[in-house]
Amino acid sequence: TYVVTELCIKCKYTDCVEVCPVDCFYEGENMLVIHPDECIDCGVCEPECPADAIKPDTEPDLDKWLDVNREYSEVWPNITVKKPAPEDADNFQAEPDKFEKYFS
Ligand code: SF4
Ligand code: F3S
Repeated sequence: TYVVTELCIKCKYTDCVEVCPVDCFYEGENMLVIHPDECIDCGVCEPECPADAIKPDTEPDLDKWLDVNREYSEVWPNITVKKPAPEDADNFQAEPDKFEKYFS
């Protein structure tokens, strides 16, 4: 599966949802997640993210993010249509510790 990681938090550009062939993105207030059982590993979303937030779970040290994607994709609503990013999205691309500060 692919997973959405910290770099999405407070950026939430939503370009990813437009390209997913199985509509497996789910929306929280400050980030999106992928449902790991629905993702078919096609990889088309990875280069679409302007924040470089989407990674294959074969990369190292993504266990925490796989857990976050799994847990919250079960409770957050599905999102399939791009929406405007937060006005201040670009300000948060290089922000450290976004999970601790802003995860929701
Ligand atoms: Fe959707 Fe493919 Fe990205 Fe998985 S890898 S979330 S199926 S676009
Ligand atoms: Fe987040 Fe990137 Fe999608 S910032 S909403 S994973 S396009």
